[in-house]
Amino acid sequence: MNAAHLSAANARPAQLRKVAINHKVAKANHDIERLLNVAVRNKDRILQAMGLPGRKANYDDEHYEFVGGAMDDLRKKHYDKSLRLLWKGEQHAQWSSFRDCTAEEKMLMSMADKASDDEDRKIRKKLSSKEYRDFLKATYSERERQAIVNILSIIGHGEAYAWLVSAELLNEVHSTGGRAALTMQVMEEAKHFVVLRELLYAFDVPIPRMNAYEYLWLEWIFKSKGTEKFFGMNVQVETIALSLFGLMSTMPGLDVLKLFHRDEARHTALPGNYLKEFPLTWWEKYSPVRQAARLRMILPALGLLLYVEEDLAEIGVDVFEFGGSMLRKLNTLAGRTGFLGSINPDLLMPFVNTLFNAYCRATREDFTERDFTLAETTGGEEELALEREIFRDLGVATA
Ligand SMILES: [Fe+2]
Ligand SMILES: [Fe+2]
Repeated sequence: MNAAHLSAANARPAQLRKVAINHKVAKANHDIERLLNVAVRNKDRILQAMGLPGRKANYDDEHYEFVGGAMDDLRKKHYDKSLRLLWKGEQHAQWSSFRDCTAEEKMLMSMADKASDDEDRKIRKKLSSKEYRDFLKATYSERERQAIVNILSIIGHGEAYAWLVSAELLNEVHSTGGRAALTMQVMEEAKHFVVLRELLYAFDVPIPRMNAYEYLWLEWIFKSKGTEKFFGMNVQVETIALSLFGLMSTMPGLDVLKLFHRDEARHTALPGNYLKEFPLTWWEKYSPVRQAARLRMILPALGLLLYVEEDLAEIGVDVFEFGGSMLRKLNTLAGRTGFLGSINPDLLMPFVNTLFNAYCRATREDFTERDFTLAETTGGEEELALEREIFRDLGVATA
């Protein structure tokens, strides 16, 4: 975004369409979540005090930090510097088979160095500059900014867990290629966490803690064993992240989310590619205990949908259209990777649709029945094309 895009003349380009929902029910859902939140956290605190396994994550979501604080100097000296010094095989080992430079990088190779330093500074300036904050304030009302932050902070906390889970998986996957893939995911999740964090701070509204549904969901995934982490994180969480980035990347000032969407698309494709080389065993696929554990793992995500209904409505999105679009993609990936075992993916979508319609009939005035699982909430041509590529040959409607 250049200075012209940030000008006052460009302010409030979007008139966000609100979705009529039942605010009393939305408030009741939040009240339930508050009680559940106190219960789950106290339970974990008591277990920890007794020396038993409580919360696994070394993560302080109430302060949106890992335990130990920000330590930005360490981040600058190691994370930022590592990226600045990142080298490509094609450039530094021209004798090798690597073809890993982009056309722009090849062009830069013939130009003066230091370009990446300048670019890095430009990106950081864009994210933290007063102009960017002013643009967000001029474009969105305070309630809209809070809604965007509430939604994106769900992914922000999710990125923390994606970082934790991929770092553990790195030591559990087989093969050099598998470890190389996970190593890049760890790096990208780290980048997602710190960049998204700065983006959210630019909105100048409070950043909420994790809600109880997300807490339960991500803790279960983090505590799950081996390839089940692939199902929890790369199939479930990454598909939700992909869907939310795809939903919001076309909103004014949020174009950086296109890059997140691109990374998450690769992460959702990883289990399919990995399990082609190292398939799940018969028992891993069809064990009733494993199948029940996977279904149990995803239950909090349904509570999460109800919790985010009000904020999505504020930016003009019906949570059940988002949920239908997202669950259709999730169902496809879960089926393709074999994690659904003996469960027929074709039976799940009508069930989801019945559930969503029943909820809307009970809580919304003048509700008209519809097939939420046919909805497509990803916007942006590039994002849709990318998703078409991931779901290619799988009969998934992405346009
Ligand atoms: Fe991520
Ligand atoms: Fe990811």
